[in-house]
Amino acid sequence: MYPIQRNRRLRSSESIRQMVREHHLRPQDFIVPLFVIEGHNTKEQIPSMPGYFRMTLDLLTDEVNELWNLGLRSVLIFVKVPDAKKDNKGTEALNPEGLMQQAVQTIKSITPNMVVMTDVALDPYSNYGHDGIVENGKILNDETVAVLGEMALSHAQAGADIVAPSDMMDGRIGHIRQRLEDENFPDTGIMSYSAKYASSFYGPFRDALDSAPGFGDKKTYQMDFANRFDALTESEKDIAEGADILMVKPGIAYLDIVYELSQKLPIPIAVYQVSGEYAMLKAAAEKGWLDYENVMLEQLIAFKRSGARLIASYFAKEAVSLIQ
Ligand code: PBG
Repeated sequence: MYPIQRNRRLRSSESIRQMVREHHLRPQDFIVPLFVIEGHNTKEQIPSMPGYFRMTLDLLTDEVNELWNLGLRSVLIFVKVPDAKKDNKGTEALNPEGLMQQAVQTIKSITPNMVVMTDVALDPYSNYGHDGIVENGKILNDETVAVLGEMALSHAQAGADIVAPSDMMDGRIGHIRQRLEDENFPDTGIMSYSAKYASSFYGPFRDALDSAPGFGDKKTYQMDFANRFDALTESEKDIAEGADILMVKPGIAYLDIVYELSQKLPIPIAVYQVSGEYAMLKAAAEKGWLDYENVMLEQLIAFKRSGARLIASYFAKEAVSLIQ
């Protein structure tokens, strides 16, 4: 007998496909990474990230207004620090008039309802290009955590809604939460990069910020990409220490981790589609080897399907323009 169930029935027209479609992209799903530089009226294209720019504070005004008008509701700020301001302890990271602090204030003054997230890690400020303080070739954990606590506090004082520690030191979420509570910032959120892998997909980002490690690699703090167990234990600890949102990073190669965390853990999971992922698609599209827009949307939907509630992506602006 002929099959009673024919799966193709629900695929037979665009209307019926729309009716049974499970996942959608909305502007509010995205977190837009922004790269900020010192100076005036300057917008520089990042060579390994075609179509993506670093910009000065004055140019942020137009950019953030445009994002807001597209329905985007959150940005994640990174700053490029001149070499002269880098040292081993991230001193400049605590400067209340530093570039990050000014960027937060600028964005909040233009678009007060934009959720402003800040990167908390020492690498852009480190003369070694590492996420922590270096001593005898090692990355010190607890000494770094102490600085990260003050850095997060300084971002909160500047007006950040959510601080996003991307450093992978042990115990930093608990310490940051405590510092925020102590200093009366109980409403400042923490988005923890809880499952951040030691990945070679971060190359273009390190070009963007001139933050590549000066020696060695980041494998003593970022996770071994051959492992799953770490993702779960790191994330459970971060929830216990006070994280509000967890992040998996990179994206497409780690959908199993996104799925597992979103199934098992009771708080929103974000995923970071990182610079190398952006660069790969741009490069393939430049060669005419892939359908740029459709591959982009397919990857973004894959994040939603695997359970991500939020997506940090360099495609955010283009994707939102396409879906509207
Ligand atoms: C550093 C940081 C990195 C990224 C975000 N925060 C790079 C790294 O860990 O070396 C990568 C983002 C991207 O590749 O898009 N704390």
